[in-house]
Amino acid sequence: MSSQWVIKPGAGVGSLLRKDVPDLQPAPHQVLVKMRAASLNFRDLLIIDGLYPLEAAEQLVPLSDGAGEVVAVGSEQTRFKIGDRVAGIFTQSWMGGEMVDADLATALGGSIDGVLSEYRLFDATGLVHIPDSLTFAEGATLPCAAVTAWNALMCDKPIRSGQTVLILGTGGVAIFALQLARAAGARVIITSSSDEKLERARALGANETINYRNVPEWGLKAKEISGGEGVDMVVETGGPGTLAQSLAATRRGGSIQMIGVLSMGEIDPLPILTGGISVRGIMVGSREMFDAMNKSIEFAKIKPVIDREFAFGDVPQAFEYLRGASHMGKIVINIG
Ligand SMILES: NC(=O)c1ccc[n+]([C@@H]2O[C@H](COP(=O)([O-])OP(=O)(O)OC[C@H]3O[C@@H](n4cnc5c(N)ncnc54)[C@H](OP(=O)(O)O)[C@@H]3O)[C@@H](O)[C@H]2O)c1
Repeated sequence: MSSQWVIKPGAGVGSLLRKDVPDLQPAPHQVLVKMRAASLNFRDLLIIDGLYPLEAAEQLVPLSDGAGEVVAVGSEQTRFKIGDRVAGIFTQSWMGGEMVDADLATALGGSIDGVLSEYRLFDATGLVHIPDSLTFAEGATLPCAAVTAWNALMCDKPIRSGQTVLILGTGGVAIFALQLARAAGARVIITSSSDEKLERARALGANETINYRNVPEWGLKAKEISGGEGVDMVVETGGPGTLAQSLAATRRGGSIQMIGVLSMGEIDPLPILTGGISVRGIMVGSREMFDAMNKSIEFAKIKPVIDREFAFGDVPQAFEYLRGASHMGKIVINIG
């Protein structure tokens, strides 16, 4: 026997239940992973609170992001061997190229069971090797937040050395975007509601910082900092409530990578057309993107920023800590 956590989406953190499950054996195409760590995303809170815009199963093992060790392999798969260090990809069926509708039905911790489990079976195609340079806790931070940041920065018009990127907030996606953009030689302007977090963002390599609470027109401020022309790219984690300022920040012909829904508001399309700005929607990323990002993380010696680690027994506390939004970077649950 081993144990896992389950939730009822929409029933809140109170629905978290730890239960025993029987031992698992891999089918010929599968791999059994002893999960060693998992990490939380804002999405996990939306799902448990019933606010996630996409369909979620009625009862499920939560969390998309986890890393572990292969402990048994199916007879027909050849991608992994016992002892390999792996992480699951966010949408289990999206290998590369453009996402198709059917991929949405394979999202871990939403459409299908996630990773908050001592053991989990994966199709061998749904895993990647984590970089040797990372611990399991660090590897567990990658599947959603880091791949999303990579997709935004590198998979549209890739950010180039010397270009300027504006990153909103200091959550999981934002801090990975900061690290990956700096590794690519880009200049980073980052915003936060907290001067203390901005100080820490500077220590991580941010070139310029703006407190969006104290500077309501932070988009215009970012444009001014960029030299007046506007930034080349915005990593837009805010949503409708921040888009107007993101558009104000962006140079003619620049891009806005639409990722988040942290705030609500009216969207005015006019500045998009008059500014010739590309607004691109993102749904995390494919296995191909995950593998490419891992090479960059290893080569650039990027260490994920872990704000706090919780024990496997303290999952409800970890969710409430995420809700408090005092974190910077990632929140990890050590599974064992
Ligand atoms: N589309 C996708 O594929 C995808 C993938 C991953 C995440 N997301 C979305 O992206 C967003 C961020 O996710 P996450 O997991 O990184 O969240 P997170 O770790 O919980 O970080 C949230 C942070 O965002 C900042 N923030 C909140 N309201 C803001 C606002 N009005 N303007 C600017 N920053 C604001 C805050 O930073 P400060 O404390 O510094 O103010 C907060 O700590 C969420 O909406 C999530 O659902 C989407």
